[in-house]
Amino acid sequence: MSALAKPLSTPPSPAPQSEWNVEAVRVDFPILSTRVYNRPLIYFDNAATTQKPLVVVDAISNYYLYGNANIHRGVHYLSEKATDAFETVRHQVQTFIGARSANEIVFVRGATEGLNLLAATLGRTRVKSGDEILISIMEHHSNIVPWQLLCEQTGARLVVIPMHANGELDQAAFEKLLTPRTRILALTHVSNSIGSINPVKHMIQLAHRQNTVVILDAAQSVAHMPIDVQDLDCDFMVLSGHKLYGPTGIGMLYGKGSLLDSLPPYQSGGDMISSVRIEKSTFHKAPQKFEAGTPHIAGVLGLGAALDYLTRLGMAAIATYENSLLAYATQVLTGIPHLRIIGQAREKSGIISFTIDDVHPHDIGTILDRSGIAIRAGHHCTMPLWESLGIVATARVSLGLYNTPGEIDHLAETLNGVRKVMGL
Ligand code: ALA
Repeated sequence: MSALAKPLSTPPSPAPQSEWNVEAVRVDFPILSTRVYNRPLIYFDNAATTQKPLVVVDAISNYYLYGNANIHRGVHYLSEKATDAFETVRHQVQTFIGARSANEIVFVRGATEGLNLLAATLGRTRVKSGDEILISIMEHHSNIVPWQLLCEQTGARLVVIPMHANGELDQAAFEKLLTPRTRILALTHVSNSIGSINPVKHMIQLAHRQNTVVILDAAQSVAHMPIDVQDLDCDFMVLSGHKLYGPTGIGMLYGKGSLLDSLPPYQSGGDMISSVRIEKSTFHKAPQKFEAGTPHIAGVLGLGAALDYLTRLGMAAIATYENSLLAYATQVLTGIPHLRIIGQAREKSGIISFTIDDVHPHDIGTILDRSGIAIRAGHHCTMPLWESLGIVATARVSLGLYNTPGEIDHLAETLNGVRKVMGL
């Protein structure tokens, strides 16, 4: 299967014009005015992690400088303030993703931990030998390996939805693979490697007809488009704070209240119990049941600041701007000789994977790096996807809300010279 771009006959469109004041946004991110190798930094590795606005860094440092205390335990002023601030962020997350209740929001380290939590708890209680777990071929390793391990432990079978050459999931195959044996559908909203936006709302509806529990990996979508879990009707959803302009080491697991309450604990220890006796312990309800030990309090406060920031900018406005950048970048890159874009789904987020004939993607990455341009090169933690396409590695540009058409022009200029640098 190949998903190669056809060169367009039309010249590149003009740079996107919009109401978005990108220069004002960029001022919020001090790192964007730094230089690498004496060149202005151009940061196109947003799918790996996004840069942090000053408000996020301030929220973290203010907590440590003026508000540091443990939460849920203290009777003193600082502890109560920290607890209030922490729980306020839970409500912010609820609003941001449209959950019914703040109790449906569990803080975890990131999307990976959220998925591992579900494999260990939902998996342990709902999956048995002969059952099937359905994933797609474009999943990140973090949405493959926990299910593989669960299948090894339970005797369940991992079933995979294939993809069309253009980077869209094969919906006819999906409908056939979805059966009464399908216990869990674990699906990415947006591919971190090729940017395809999957039609998850429709897929969730179909899965529910088979009583299949649906887990949505929103790590690559939540910073780039409005998301409403009640509208999507997913049963669980995971995300990572550092991919939505927040800190590393903090993320969120959403679960429908009744489902979360029905799951056993994941990790155990302080803060998740209601009573402990040597004979037996009892546990809090969700979300506390899943938050053993002192959490990443500063990370949660930083995440809250990031959500505030994104809400002020407006997720719909962010999506509109990034879509215009994606259209521009796709058109400009398509015009570069020997460059092939991998993944041309009709619905795409701002991620462009590509190869250049006879040049290893790591060399592309290094040449761009020396021009101040940060991208990712390699398999992007989706080895089965590349195997299905017969490709070993790609270079990947991933866009964020602070990128500009001028940066894309500079990228294109540098890419145009890559083969020459390599002596081709
Ligand atoms: N999942 C991250 C990426 O796609 C690390 O780069």
